[in-house]
Amino acid sequence: MSHTINVNGKPHTVEVEADTPLLWVLRDELELKGAKFGCGMGLCGACTVHIDGKPVRSCVTPVSAVGDAKITTVEALAETATGKKVQEAWLALDVMQCGYCQSGQIMAATALLERTPRPSDKDIDDAMSGNLCRCATYARIRAAIKQAAGLPTEDTREMA
Ligand code: FES
Ligand code: FES
Repeated sequence: MSHTINVNGKPHTVEVEADTPLLWVLRDELELKGAKFGCGMGLCGACTVHIDGKPVRSCVTPVSAVGDAKITTVEALAETATGKKVQEAWLALDVMQCGYCQSGQIMAATALLERTPRPSDKDIDDAMSGNLCRCATYARIRAAIKQAAGLPTEDTREMA
C-alpha cells in the first residue's frame, strides 16, 4: 500500500503495510538511521521523532496514522534554532557515552524547550522521564538542557 509522508520538509512515498511502524519506514525505507530501535513498545524513547513539533514514539506509531503531519528527525533538527542550541549544548558538555539513546534524548529535549523555553527541574523531569539511558547520562542531559535554555548549570565534570 502506498503512503506519502512529509519528513524533514519533503514528501516521501513508500510502499508498506498500513500498520508498519513509522520507525521502520524512516530507517529502512528512507535510510534515516538517527532514530533508534530500543524496546519497540513505547517504553524507552530511543525512537523519538517530532510529529508537528511534539515528541512521538515512532516504534508504536503506524505509518497510516501520520497523515499530512510534519515529521522531523534528528537528521534535520539543527535546521531549527532550538534544535541547534540543544545539539551544541550536548557537544559542549560531552553528554554522550555509548550514544544509543541520545537521538531520542535530544528530540525530547528540543520539544521541551520549544514549548517551555526556561524549564524548571520538574519540567525537565516530566519531559524526559520516558527517555531511558542505560549509561545513566541523566545529570549531563539535565545540564545540557539548562545550558541550551541559557539557565545556570552545575559543574558537570564529575557527572556520570
Ligand atoms: S524503541 Fe520506541 S520507545 Fe523504545
Ligand atoms: S548514552 Fe548509552 S544508552 Fe544513553
